[in-house]
Amino acid sequence: MRLQDKVAAVTGAASGIGRAIAMRLAQEGATVAINDIDAVAGQALESEIERGGGRSFYLHGDASSQRDIAALMSELKNRCGGLDILVNNVIAGSAAVAGNEWDSLTEVCLRSYWIAMNAAFPLMRRPGAGVVNISSVNALMGFGREHVYSGMKAAIIGLSRSMAGEFSPLGIRINCICPGTIVTDRWKEEFERDPGMQERLTRLYPIGRLGSPEDVANAALFLASDEASFITGAVLTVDGGLTAVNTAFEK
Ligand SMILES: NC(=O)c1ccc[n+]([C@@H]2O[C@H](COP(=O)([O-])OP(=O)(O)OC[C@H]3O[C@@H](n4cnc5c(N)ncnc54)[C@H](O)[C@@H]3O)[C@@H](O)[C@H]2O)c1
Repeated sequence: MRLQDKVAAVTGAASGIGRAIAMRLAQEGATVAINDIDAVAGQALESEIERGGGRSFYLHGDASSQRDIAALMSELKNRCGGLDILVNNVIAGSAAVAGNEWDSLTEVCLRSYWIAMNAAFPLMRRPGAGVVNISSVNALMGFGREHVYSGMKAAIIGLSRSMAGEFSPLGIRINCICPGTIVTDRWKEEFERDPGMQERLTRLYPIGRLGSPEDVANAALFLASDEASFITGAVLTVDGGLTAVNTAFEK
């Protein structure tokens, strides 16, 4: 197993991409702390990981609250003695993203990443510690007039690369993933509302399909593992070629 004896924390982990990341890290042997505000889904994930033979615990908390993240870190210290992997994944609700709500997006999408990294670093076992920050293709190109979301996602990359300069010499690598459209339950609801949407989006992807939460989870596993020990400050697109090719010019 690639993460034997490692301890990981994932924010906003009860559903979507975070859920797939928590499951994948646990499958590879990590003990996974699940942060989320959705207690029902968080506890269900904890049970599912344990049923599969993995180790995890759900701790209710708002990832943008310094107090809740401090409680998560103190629980990790008491239960596990430290931390090896932090995945910042949390996102405010889709209404906030589409509505360009500055306050909720800065609090949940950006400040939470800063809070969690600063709270996690003193606990991280070094060398070999890794942070994976989930950004978005919206950091790289404009999509759908989600201006504030795009700005926050770009800021995550700047924050990660700047902090990689300070913390990589101290044994903590910090990398980003920029996913394209990843078919979570949230997207499935959109596709039900607008039946043509999935096909329209798929046409934009050179690889010929949309992404799955597992596609991002596999990338996060790699960046968090010792296999990526020479990789820090990197930005990995997991987007089926979306940002590499303008498909409007293809036949
Ligand atoms: N799904 C996509 O197509 C896509 C594309 C690019 C980037 N991303 C990024 O991937 C990450 C995950 O997105 P997703 O689509 O899986 O989201 P999602 O909405 O499916 O899941 C988000 C989770 O965060 C939780 N949450 C919300 N506010 C919280 C808070 N304050 N504290 C703790 N938990 C909270 C929710 O309860 C939920 O479980 C985000 O950073 C998002 O920007 C997603």
